[in-house]
Amino acid sequence: MKTRITELFGIEHPIIQGGMHYVGYANLAAAVSNAGGLGIITGLTQGTPEKLSAEIKRCNELTNKPFGVNMTFLPSLTPPDYPGMFQAIIDGGVKIVETAGNNPQQWIPMMKEAGIKVIHKCTSVRHSLKAQKIGCDAVSVDGFECGGHPGEDDIPNFILLPRAADELDIPFVASGGMADARSLVAALSLGAEGMNMGTRFIATEEAPVHENVKQAILGASELDTRLVMRPLRNTERVLNNAGVEALLQKEKDLGENLQFSDIIDQVAGVYPDIMINGNMDAGAWSCGMVAGLIYDAPSVADLINRIMSEADELIAQRLNSVLSA
Ligand SMILES: Cc1cc2nc3c(=O)[nH]c(=O)nc-3n(C[C@H](O)[C@H](O)[C@H](O)COP(=O)(O)O)c2cc1C
Repeated sequence: MKTRITELFGIEHPIIQGGMHYVGYANLAAAVSNAGGLGIITGLTQGTPEKLSAEIKRCNELTNKPFGVNMTFLPSLTPPDYPGMFQAIIDGGVKIVETAGNNPQQWIPMMKEAGIKVIHKCTSVRHSLKAQKIGCDAVSVDGFECGGHPGEDDIPNFILLPRAADELDIPFVASGGMADARSLVAALSLGAEGMNMGTRFIATEEAPVHENVKQAILGASELDTRLVMRPLRNTERVLNNAGVEALLQKEKDLGENLQFSDIIDQVAGVYPDIMINGNMDAGAWSCGMVAGLIYDAPSVADLINRIMSEADELIAQRLNSVLSA
């Protein structure tokens, strides 16, 4: 399949694995890239420029295909060493960066000078237009269904993607709720040039997370995610569990008086306990509604090959037969 996204990034299939905290290590990114998609290492999980450099080196040893690094900009009391991390990306020869969170404008000239292509993740048309204006090469349009931070507009992809198609000149991929060939074909027909998946890639053999995390996704339905931190305008879609229920109760009890410090135990620093130790009730971890469409944990190559062959079949047979009926 050839789209503006496969051309832009030099990849075989229009499938991207979005950055994921404590999931997007070199093993997963390389598996996705080796299977013809675009794998992405999550920069902030590495913590320091030195560790990020080592992870990039490891990924370069595992694949000779293009891969990217995710840089997420979040408000923080002790911001990570962003300049050092960007230098590590440039020195490591990485040519694709996925940015997310706050506006990446200040980092664009540095990346352009190093020949890096930038794809910014946005949850609205206005932010996508801004990304286009500041020089991003592509956007990942993340609908309300998505795991992680869906923003505060609550527009699902059936509306958001065609709206993005109506407004944008740069190519975009559909993100949020994408699981299989049906997602890809639908995304293409809504105007996207491919798809970005998060939650789906966690339930794969290569995802370097505790087995309990994969089982939690396999056991979840589309009804099992919750939105947390909405009163703080930092909404996150997470899988429900005992820690999340405690958090939501606090949000309800404190109402308008809620401060970040009230819920810090259920949201800050819980990822290692969940992803590494498999302590599933430790707190809030991002997960998309798409969990309801995930029934197995195949290898990344099997997943991507299945998506691509079923997408061919869907287009050539089902859609074509509708046309000629
Ligand atoms: C466990 C998990 C962690 C995530 N961490 C990040 C992150 O650190 N930075 C980021 O930009 N997006 C992050 N995301 C969002 C994904 O990159 C992607 O946009 C999202 O999962 C797409 O929705 P889906 O889960 O329905 O496929 C995370 C998602 C999950 C499920």
